[in-house]
Amino acid sequence: MIELIDLTKTYTTRLGVKTQALDSIRLNLPDVGMIFVLGKSGSGKSTLLNLLGGLDRADSGRILVDGMDLSAKKGKELDAYRCHDVGFVFQDFNIIEHYTVRENVGLALELQGKTIESKLMRNTLELVDLKDFENRKGNEVSGGQKQRIAIARALIKRPRLILTDEPTGNLDSNTSDQIMNLLKEISKETLVVVVSHDPEEAKVFGDRIIYIKDGRISKDELIHVSEDKLSKVHEHKGFLKLSSSIKYGIHALRPKRLQVIMTSLLLTFSLMVSNLLGAYLHFLNDPDMRLFEILDSEQIKAIATDLQGYLTQAHAEVLILGTYVLLLGIFYVFLSISVEQRIKQLGIFKAIGARHQDVLKIFIWEALLLGIGSFILSSLVAYAYLLDINKKFYDGLSVLGLYLPQILFHGYISLFLPSLFMVGLTLNTLRKNSVISILKES
Ligand SMILES: Nc1ncnc2c1ncn2[C@@H]1O[C@H](COP(=O)(O)OP(=O)(O)OP(=O)(O)O)[C@@H](O)[C@H]1O
Ligand SMILES: [Mg+2]
Repeated sequence: MIELIDLTKTYTTRLGVKTQALDSIRLNLPDVGMIFVLGKSGSGKSTLLNLLGGLDRADSGRILVDGMDLSAKKGKELDAYRCHDVGFVFQDFNIIEHYTVRENVGLALELQGKTIESKLMRNTLELVDLKDFENRKGNEVSGGQKQRIAIARALIKRPRLILTDEPTGNLDSNTSDQIMNLLKEISKETLVVVVSHDPEEAKVFGDRIIYIKDGRISKDELIHVSEDKLSKVHEHKGFLKLSSSIKYGIHALRPKRLQVIMTSLLLTFSLMVSNLLGAYLHFLNDPDMRLFEILDSEQIKAIATDLQGYLTQAHAEVLILGTYVLLLGIFYVFLSISVEQRIKQLGIFKAIGARHQDVLKIFIWEALLLGIGSFILSSLVAYAYLLDINKKFYDGLSVLGLYLPQILFHGYISLFLPSLFMVGLTLNTLRKNSVISILKES
């Protein structure tokens, strides 16, 4: 059973205007059945649903889900509640546009640490009449189909309760009936709460209709009493697998290929310049160094000697420092733009139950892949140049020994620091707000 006790929520806008969205709501909800919440626009329906779904916190009052007090839960426990117990269908879908239907729906399971079984996926998609759309992208389907993806995402994990915010608002009457019949079927075993504008629909499908006006319950109408069952106890075990996090991490880079290529070229360039400057500084310290013996390259020696006329050691050191600053600047700008662009995605991940760690596990791959790519490319380019590729690329590999500290240092700055930036930027976005405000911010 779910008990709402004196639930109150007031929003304050940036200009300081206060709106009381919910005012001392008291309600008991059973374990099964289909409950409609009706009310005018702005009456507080979505607010109520968001609180029930653990997407936002009440100012005062309590929500007891099978005796567990949501308001007393820490962030992590609320993540687990959203991940395992709640299936949420949003008014504006909140699906990830460049993920396929399968990925959008499967993500809910993967966040629970499960793998996507093809049969379960097919059955679920069939329920919402999307079985031929498994590999379509989120931005290649209609509004109604997006809505059905969102419903499938909520259904596939068989949650303790399903919360739907105007699930048929974007559908034609045939499809709406189909969806309502489906939710009705599910409501025999699960509690389904439907926010709606449509009293007719509520009368046809609802077991109970709760009317909300100005944040208060104005009427509570029981239509049909369904037999209460003992609610299922969900185990909050299992977390996003590494393989899934890599898959979704790489996904993030796909839609912005050009940006990634330009950034990694810039990064490669600055790493390469610092490689070469490093070699030059090495030469200044040790003009007869082994490198030139190995390379047998009088030409390189001549260039380096010639350079001495223009580039003093102090200048070279400043330049090398400059290239590192440039490098970090590029990483920072790219990653902060990227996180900014992905706030919506981040909100969706959180809304369907990702923990902070899961979001980080997915987001960090972007930084790592960019770092690894630029590091390998720059090392290859710089060393191929130094090693005089035509002659003795393989013989000359011992030259790596000479540069090991520099290679390690570059590895460090191209892997560790971008990851650190990414973690910082992501956590900063996660820290500020409740899940619902992250979603609304985007
Ligand atoms: N983030 C917010 N900041 C300020 N006010 C808000 C915010 N979110 C909601 N409100 C206000 O709280 C009240 C309840 O909003 P809510 O979204 O719950 O309404 P609703 O019943 O779902 O409306 P609709 O049917 O239009 O979706 C409204 O007056 C709304 O303007
Ligand atoms: Mg609403």
